[in-house]
Amino acid sequence: MATYENPRLVLNSASPPEPGRVAWRSPSNIAIVKYWGKRGIQLPQNPSLSFTLTAAYTDMALEYALKERPDPEIDLKFFFEGQPNETFHRKVAAFLESVTPIFPFLRQITIVIRTSNSFPHSTGIASSASSMSALALCLCSLEHRFFQTLPNDAEFERKASYVARLGSGSACRSIYPYAALWGLTPALPGSSDECAVPLDAQLHPIFRAFRDDVLVVSAAEKAVSSRAGHALMEGNPFAETRYAQARSRTVRLLEALRSGDVETFGQIAEEEALALHALMMCSQPPYLLLQPNTVAVMHRVRAFRQETRLPVYFTLDAGPNVHVLYPAQHEEVVRSWVESALKPLCENGFYLADRAGEGPEEL
Ligand code: PMV
Repeated sequence: MATYENPRLVLNSASPPEPGRVAWRSPSNIAIVKYWGKRGIQLPQNPSLSFTLTAAYTDMALEYALKERPDPEIDLKFFFEGQPNETFHRKVAAFLESVTPIFPFLRQITIVIRTSNSFPHSTGIASSASSMSALALCLCSLEHRFFQTLPNDAEFERKASYVARLGSGSACRSIYPYAALWGLTPALPGSSDECAVPLDAQLHPIFRAFRDDVLVVSAAEKAVSSRAGHALMEGNPFAETRYAQARSRTVRLLEALRSGDVETFGQIAEEEALALHALMMCSQPPYLLLQPNTVAVMHRVRAFRQETRLPVYFTLDAGPNVHVLYPAQHEEVVRSWVESALKPLCENGFYLADRAGEGPEEL
């Protein structure tokens, strides 16, 4: 695959672009088969597969103007929810610097980024997938605005997914509607370790309207970041077995998604959630992100499923919050049970009713 490095993407100062703005809304995603462990430059150790969400998203606007004087430094101002944010500024400036071989024109312009999330700050809902995918989309829009190099939607998305991956691995999957797969698997021709591929054409209709109620059991910042968690997979004694397990679950999950087999889907979702946290507990040093209420929610989901025979399943991200997954046709009953049985287990009673959806939108 192309590296996308392109030294020709430089602006001609004899005919400079007018100052302007590009903007995207990009959603978060929830992995069913998890990406956990990486190699090289943000390449995954195993394929992963996620649903693209709707309600949890980042809005990002990028304003640009040609620099008055040539200066190789990245010239960035960064506002999060209207306020300058030092931590995000540092992270984004370093990322922009790292992608200058792909977008050399970034050294020629001043950049102002204004961003906000749809979910309240400090709910423990991770925003790296939505924010890094929004940023990658803005950069590709900028390239196309300046050079008309990405007229084809599929090419545009592929490049955006590639660039998003460099910012945060899981972000590469947020580019596509409904569901996406990232990582090489023999079960899907065209799959790649370098960017995600869309899965919407492979989905049985029941999965297009899947619900995901995100139960915020704890809004506290995680004690161990995903970055540190990926790194700890290197010394994990179960690493190779884990990667093989994820590969075979990906093959089975793809088949279940095509055929509409909700039971196999749910079984894999729960197995993957528990495997992810078991890997953390087996790292050197081991760590534990589950809270008492995380465990309580998982037990309640299983008991509810047994009592009602409804296809309601859980998954977890790399933290204590629980995603409750079920088909849209059961929304009424399940939602009222979530309100009465699960909401009281959430911090400040907060949960986010989300669903699989159409993916990023240009603003
Ligand atoms: O993209 P990262 O580096 O934040 O890692 C994400 C890891 C998980 O959310 C736990 C799994 C996944 O595939 O999204």
